[in-house]
Amino acid sequence: MTKKIVTLAGDGIGPEIMDAGLKVLEAVAKKTGFDYEIDAQPFGGAAIDVFGEPLPAKTLNAAKNADAVLLAAIGAPKYENAKIRPEQGLLAIRKELGLFANIRPIRVHPALSHLSPLKVDKVKGIDFVIVRELTGGIYFGEPRVLEAEHAVDTNVYSADEIRRIATYAFELARTRRRKVTSVDKQNVLATSKLWRNVVEDVHKNYPDVTLEHQLVDSCAMILITDPKRFDVIVTENLFGDILSDEASVLPGSLGLMPSASHGARKGSAGGGNPSLYEPIHGSAPDIAGKGIANPLAMILSVAMMLGQSFGDLTAQKLIESATDSVLTSGILTPDLGGNASTEEVTGAVVQWLMSKE
Ligand code: NAD
Ligand code: IPM
Ligand code: MN
Repeated sequence: MTKKIVTLAGDGIGPEIMDAGLKVLEAVAKKTGFDYEIDAQPFGGAAIDVFGEPLPAKTLNAAKNADAVLLAAIGAPKYENAKIRPEQGLLAIRKELGLFANIRPIRVHPALSHLSPLKVDKVKGIDFVIVRELTGGIYFGEPRVLEAEHAVDTNVYSADEIRRIATYAFELARTRRRKVTSVDKQNVLATSKLWRNVVEDVHKNYPDVTLEHQLVDSCAMILITDPKRFDVIVTENLFGDILSDEASVLPGSLGLMPSASHGARKGSAGGGNPSLYEPIHGSAPDIAGKGIANPLAMILSVAMMLGQSFGDLTAQKLIESATDSVLTSGILTPDLGGNASTEEVTGAVVQWLMSKE
C-alpha cells in the first residue's frame, strides 16, 4: 500500500535539506520498491507568512493522517520578538501528535574522528542515544508569565510521563549495551526528585539493564571527558535539548545529527499517531540560501523513518552505508571542513545508492 509522508520543509536551510532528503528517499525507493507519496505542507515561519500561524489546521490534519512526518527546520531572526513564532508550531505539533519520546543517536564516523575538538582516542567508537522527553517539563508547564519586570516558567512532570519515557529508555537499552544513564538535577529540583524515584521504580522491571544516575551539570562534563561510557541517556525535555546539542560536537557537526520522535503505540491510550523525523539542528539562518548546508542530518532522518516507521531496515542500512561512504571519501560540506555544496553531497549519496546492485 502507498505510504503517505507529510513533509514540513519550514524555514532557512529547511527547504534546501528537505530537497536533499527527498532525493535520497526517491533513490532508495527505486532500489527497494518502497511505495510512497509526498504531501508537502506549510509550517513554521513559512506558514506564519501566509496563514498567520505556524501550524495551520490543514497542516496538522494532514500530519495526523500521515504514515510518517518529515520535518526539516523552522525559525528565523525576523520572528525573534514576534508574538507568534515558528517555534510554537514545532512544540504544538509534538504535543498534538503526542510525541513524548525523542530519540537522538550519536555515532562518530571513523573518517571524522579527527574533526572532533576532543582527542581521537576519546571519540573513536562513540555510540550512544539520548532519549529526550519531548512533551512535558518546562516547555509546556503553566503558568507562563512574561511581564516587564517579572517572568515565570513552570516545570511540571507527572509520574506517568516519567514512567513512559523511562520504560522507553530501558526497552531501547535492551536492544543495545544494556546501560541507562538517567540525568536529572535531583539535588535541587522537586521534578527531578520525582524523576529519580520513578526511574528507580521502572528499573525494577529491567534487572538485566544497568542503571546509573547523573546530575545534569556533571553529565555535561562527562560528555566531554568520557563520552564512551554512555549507551542510553534518558532525561527531561530541557536537559535533553541542551545535552544533545553539546553531544553534536563529538561527531563534528550539528549537521550530522538526525532524530525520531515517537508517541504511544497504536491501540494504547492516545496512540496511533505517526512518528516524526527531523534533524536536531535549526534553520541555520547564517548559511541559509548559500547551498552549503550539510544535508546528512536530514538524510539520516529519512533513514530512521524507513527503519522505524516502515520496518524497512534494509533501506535504512543502505542510506547509512551511503552516507558513511561519502564521508569516508571526503566529500564534505564546510561545517566539516570541506568545500562541497549541499547538492554535491546529496548527489554523491544518490550516486552510491544507484551504483548498488
Ligand atoms: P541552528 O541549529 O540553526 O544553528 C547553529 C549553528 O550550527 C549555526 O552556525 C549553523 O550554521 C550551524 N548548522 C546547523 N545546522 C547545520 C547544517 N545542517 N549544516 C551546516 N551547519 C549547520 O541553531 P540557532 O542558530 O541557535 O537557531 C536558528 C533558528 O533555528 C532559531 O529560530 C531556532 O529557534 C531554530 N531551531 C529550530 C530547530 C528545529 O527546527 N527543530 C532546532 C533548533 C533551533
Ligand atoms: C530542538 C529545538 C527546539 C527545542 C526549539 C526550536 C523549540 O531546539 O528541536 O532541539 O528546543 O526543542
Ligand atoms: Mn535544540
